[in-house]
Amino acid sequence: MHLLTVFSHPFTDRYPAAVMEAFHEPFRRAGHTIDVLDLHREGFDPRFTEADHAHFWGGPIPDGIAEMHRRVEAADRLAFVYPVYWWGMPAMMKGWIERVFTGGWAYQYGDGVDDRGKQPLNALLPSIPTVLIGVAGSKQRTYDKYGYREAMRTQIDVGISAYCGIDDVESHLIYDVEGDHNAPRREAGLVQARGIAEAFIAPDRVARTAKADHLAARQEQSSSL
Ligand SMILES: Cc1cc2nc3c(=O)[nH]c(=O)nc-3n(C[C@H](O)[C@H](O)[C@H](O)COP(=O)(O)O)c2cc1C
Repeated sequence: MHLLTVFSHPFTDRYPAAVMEAFHEPFRRAGHTIDVLDLHREGFDPRFTEADHAHFWGGPIPDGIAEMHRRVEAADRLAFVYPVYWWGMPAMMKGWIERVFTGGWAYQYGDGVDDRGKQPLNALLPSIPTVLIGVAGSKQRTYDKYGYREAMRTQIDVGISAYCGIDDVESHLIYDVEGDHNAPRREAGLVQARGIAEAFIAPDRVARTAKADHLAARQEQSSSL
């Protein structure tokens, strides 16, 4: 297996980096290769520029983006590890998605840009098994109370990943990691991250079907009203 991990955090010696390392341990033990795309260390510019906008409407691919495409294409497993900021991924990572998951590569309407707004969506990416791990300062009960987890799944798993064809996506949160009193939680979070990886690389892992599951859950919800 060749894993591409997209990671976003300003520091490499903070807890989210430890989570990424724990997630990688089972991959390394099993002899798999890992490409860490550390957005801060690589100096990725997350700003959607004029060149990105021109490409969106059919212009040439901006500098550096084709190289990102090649790194995704080289992977047969994808991971995103990030601290939760404002109930979603950090702006740095969102900017990477905005700039790298481009029309004509990740998705396309009809035959191309001229069919935007006219023809149905075609997802263009293969369903590379993908895992998302968000590190959360807040407690699970806060997420449950307000439905933040479902909101994140809807937006990220379905609205980004499955939208582009990566339907085999699973997402996880490690909750309540801040403060000295939560040291045992942080330890448990590292165990959780290793367990996520072990299950993710297991030969008997069952592929996820994020879009169908999401639609079925919505159907069930509306029929119970
Ligand atoms: C700008 C910002 C926004 C945050 N928003 C959330 C949030 O919406 N939900 C949450 O659970 N934690 C949130 N947090 C807490 C971080 O997720 C948490 O502090 C981080 O994962 C812990 O790692 P660190 O302190 O080593 O960066 C936020 C932190 C920052 C800096």
